[in-house]
Amino acid sequence: MLEAVLLVGGQGTRLRPLTVTTPKPMLPVAGVPCTEHQIARAREAGVTRVILGTSYKPEVFSEYFGDGSRFGVELVYATEDVPLGTGGAIRHVAPYLESDPDAPILIFNGDVLSGHDIAGQVQRWRDDSADVSLYLTRVDDPRAYGLVPTDADGRVLSFLEKPTTAEEIVTDQINAGCYVFRRSLIDVIPRGRPVSVEREIFPGLLAAGAVVTGFVDDGYWLDLGTPLDFVKGSRDLVTGRAPSPALPGRTGDFLVRPGAEVADDAILTGGTFVGAGATVGSGAVVDGSSLFDGAMIAAGAHVRDSVIGSGAIVGAGAYLDGVVVGDRAVVGPGNELIRGARVWPGVALGETAVRFSSDR
Ligand code: GDD
Ligand code: MG
Repeated sequence: MLEAVLLVGGQGTRLRPLTVTTPKPMLPVAGVPCTEHQIARAREAGVTRVILGTSYKPEVFSEYFGDGSRFGVELVYATEDVPLGTGGAIRHVAPYLESDPDAPILIFNGDVLSGHDIAGQVQRWRDDSADVSLYLTRVDDPRAYGLVPTDADGRVLSFLEKPTTAEEIVTDQINAGCYVFRRSLIDVIPRGRPVSVEREIFPGLLAAGAVVTGFVDDGYWLDLGTPLDFVKGSRDLVTGRAPSPALPGRTGDFLVRPGAEVADDAILTGGTFVGAGATVGSGAVVDGSSLFDGAMIAAGAHVRDSVIGSGAIVGAGAYLDGVVVGDRAVVGPGNELIRGARVWPGVALGETAVRFSSDR
């Protein structure tokens, strides 16, 4: 038996308004919740039992996944009454685990799409007789992540979460959000209070001389932190750049779910996803965007790199680029929205040509 924990309790503030009704890990990426992509990949790597560490809107997870049998795993829910942070959430699931004290436990951040070799990471943890193994990847700008320098043998030297000064940028290797913990180590995390695994537990383990190793994997990796990341993840799944057993064999330039209606002369491109019951009108162009179930794009509208929520309407001739439109919102004909504009669920923008932009 191999057990995995998914940390899915965060509020997803940066993805509002999409996360007003849906917790971030449950937002459909190419039509499938991030959590489902992760469960499918974990299962492929031999995981048979998954504990979901929930806090924000736990019922959304249980209504969708039930006991996990439809997804080929046994699923258990561990819900925090108040959010306990990443480390507190890991400690909170300890009583739900059934593995032996020396067994490996996989722990995933719930908002990451990755193609890394999960089974390979567990094997390396065994080969190294490690206490904890951290999946690491390299990025151009590491500042928004946990920095994890390693020595020539792959031993982790330090853990710097979201460094603020230039001197702290000592590596481009970052924590990619998948850990293998020796089961018994989870019990040493303090219980009953908020704990950050990144700021408190990893530095503490290193100071105590625990064997913490890095597993560097340069496969596909994306943290779904912002709307633009989210759009990119959806695009990459649709075009097959991001691997997911929940969406096998993708190679196309767009993906249209059954029950959607797309006009013959509409153009779908750049990894666009069209959800069930969505419609795209005559002459509309939808590029690199994600249309949730029942979204409607009227004739002649242009939508680029945007997320259009369930049942939302984009009026004729409107122009949207890098925008999030909340569920059931209406963007009237001829509106122009660009660069990070967000329309809250249910809001209706009238027929005037509003031009709105912001830097976020
Ligand atoms: N159950 C529970 N309770 N889950 C939580 C809580 C909590 O209180 N707080 C956060 N989480 C979950 C989130 O839902 C998310 O899936 C995961 O823990 C990580 O939290 P984020 O808020 O997304 O963290 P981040 O993206 O800023 O940084 C983390 O991920 C980076 C890689 O994606 C850190 O682990 C960084 O070190 C890392 O580089
Ligand atoms: Mg994150």
